[in-house]
Amino acid sequence: MNYLLPLRVSDVEVRRKGRRLLGPICLAIEGTGITIILGPNGSGKTSLLRLLHGLERPLGGKVEWNVPEAKAQSAQSFVFQTPILMRRSVLDCVAYPLTLRGMSRSAAREAAEVAVNDAGLGKVKDLAAPMISGGEKQKLALARALITNPEVLFLDEPCASLDGRATGDIENSLRAAALSGVRILMSTHDLGQARRLADEVLFLVGGRLVERADAKRFFGEPQTGEAQAFLDGRILV
Ligand SMILES: Nc1ncnc2c1ncn2[C@@H]1O[C@H](COP(=O)(O)OP(=O)(O)OP(=O)(O)O)[C@@H](O)[C@H]1O
Ligand SMILES: [Mg+2]
Repeated sequence: MNYLLPLRVSDVEVRRKGRRLLGPICLAIEGTGITIILGPNGSGKTSLLRLLHGLERPLGGKVEWNVPEAKAQSAQSFVFQTPILMRRSVLDCVAYPLTLRGMSRSAAREAAEVAVNDAGLGKVKDLAAPMISGGEKQKLALARALITNPEVLFLDEPCASLDGRATGDIENSLRAAALSGVRILMSTHDLGQARRLADEVLFLVGGRLVERADAKRFFGEPQTGEAQAFLDGRILV
């Protein structure tokens, strides 16, 4: 059961130095599955994810979870495009969110051991996290994000610089997480990935939500010229 949702975003704007980066946006996130956020460079994908996760304060409007803010915060995770990793072993990095929540170090390491093996990182578990490969780092970031059993998981282009194999592994982990009930919102530039993963699509242009549709409809019969142009690979301005 997902207690965090629905998430309601009403009339929200994000501005920096007087410039509007995002909005006004009205949006409700509920249900299950994977929402993919698409849009050209600079369209506001990262800003939207950061806003939903509480990293970006809206100038106007509201971002409301179904539970109080602090509770909502503790049940969501964020995977950044470039993971921020501590100078600890892979195993300790994955265990860390659990010890932060009060679990004993040995219990946390035990749980992390399972998660690290599931993520295909068993061979590198004792290496210092900054030393492992880019694909391994992103798998680590995902394992660390999932170990607290979040209800909602945000990911900002997690596979941006990964090869096909690492991307496939991450996609499998995301599918498994979604099946187990984690509500996923993720941005990507990779249309193939969007087609493989999306249950629904949010399409942004110029900080505005131009189209929202279930994936089949978005890819099959986009309703706006902008979405059609984007899918055809024509550049949007
Ligand atoms: N800290 C900031 N200060 C000023 N402008 C910013 C800041 N962060 C982002 N922007 C601007 O906000 C707009 C939206 O940026 P955002 O990073 O959300 O887009 P994006 O869709 O994630 O782009 P990309 O596909 O390149 O990752 C861009 O025009 C960007 O230049
Ligand atoms: Mg971005």
